[in-house]
Amino acid sequence: MAVPLVDLKAQYQTIKSDIDAAVARIFAQTSFILGAEVQAFEEAMADYCNVDHAIGVSSGTAALQLGLMACDIGPGDEVITTPLTFIATAAAISHVGARPVFCDVDPQTYNLDPAAIEAAITAIISPRTRAILPVHLYGQPVDMDPILDIAARHGLRVIEDACQAIGATCQGHKAGSMGDLGCFSFYPSKNLGGAGDGGMVVTNDPDLAARIRLYRDHGRTDHYGHGCVGFTYRLDALQAAVLGVKLPHIDAWNDARRAHASTYNAALAACDVITPVEMEGCRHVYHCYVVRIANGGAEARDALMQALRAQGIGASIHYPQTVHRQPAYAGLGLGPGSFPVAEACAETVLSLPIYPEMTADQREEVVDALNHCLQTHDIAPAAC
Ligand SMILES: Cc1ncc(COP(=O)(O)O)c(C=O)c1O
Repeated sequence: MAVPLVDLKAQYQTIKSDIDAAVARIFAQTSFILGAEVQAFEEAMADYCNVDHAIGVSSGTAALQLGLMACDIGPGDEVITTPLTFIATAAAISHVGARPVFCDVDPQTYNLDPAAIEAAITAIISPRTRAILPVHLYGQPVDMDPILDIAARHGLRVIEDACQAIGATCQGHKAGSMGDLGCFSFYPSKNLGGAGDGGMVVTNDPDLAARIRLYRDHGRTDHYGHGCVGFTYRLDALQAAVLGVKLPHIDAWNDARRAHASTYNAALAACDVITPVEMEGCRHVYHCYVVRIANGGAEARDALMQALRAQGIGASIHYPQTVHRQPAYAGLGLGPGSFPVAEACAETVLSLPIYPEMTADQREEVVDALNHCLQTHDIAPAAC
């Protein structure tokens, strides 16, 4: 039996008639851009995230870029963020002409470490620092209170990258609802995934919301009236209709992910891999189920991944290289050792298959394959 990393077909089968009806409705209306479908989904998302405003945009990257622009962050400004993330987090900062300033992560949660920010504060905070951009990586919420506290003390904005964390909570607060702005991606494999690209910004600030609405649609104040220079960054009606069908299922789907994660944790407890932890008071939504190999570096991890793939297990790496070591950011001049924890994580993390529709047999298949690969390869001596 092959177990893929994610299985979007399995999810489609569970909601096929509702999705097909929503798609047929959009084609019957032939109203494809913004409109009532997008507005209805925005209202549902605002309600779900317990915020006043939600603005549908064309991707998670667009959400981050417009969020930064709405906060007047631009050329010459600096934004503190994590080097252990998908490149889009930093790219959005670069898109507005600002500079990402990286800070190291917590080795247990893989998220921006508030203590590391405090320790490096005099080095990283300058008169140009305008915001902190924490990422709720893999679906694990960032420890937000200390981040919000640092931001308040230094007059900084907080923009949450909640692209991987819809439905996650920190002390009862939904990911995306704690900072000035929260940004989501609806990339198809996300916990709430569209039938193409899509994104959303959520906020309680009406001025920020109004600016983002303008920016996403050519700065349009009426059909051919343009109050500012904007973009074609709108969420389309087809995506809104599909996502509107899926949103009512998100809590059950996240619960299923959590159940798979806890079964994996128990099955892998005796094995030489480090299983994910859930921060106290938080609800992790396991966009990725990420283990770290306990012995060996990137070579051993890569060998384990290849061995699992040879057994039909869709293992993957999120992410094999930290952002500051990507060629795209070579200009920052941040060499190896700049952020040792993030770099060690990038060398040793391994994502195992996880998706709501996964069966108990599939989970067992993954655990057995991992056990077999660890025993038969010189990767990590102890068996599961
Ligand atoms: C942490 C993170 N930030 C930003 C993005 C960008 O989202 P999108 O691909 O929708 O532009 C993603 C999605 O891949 C992500 O995982």
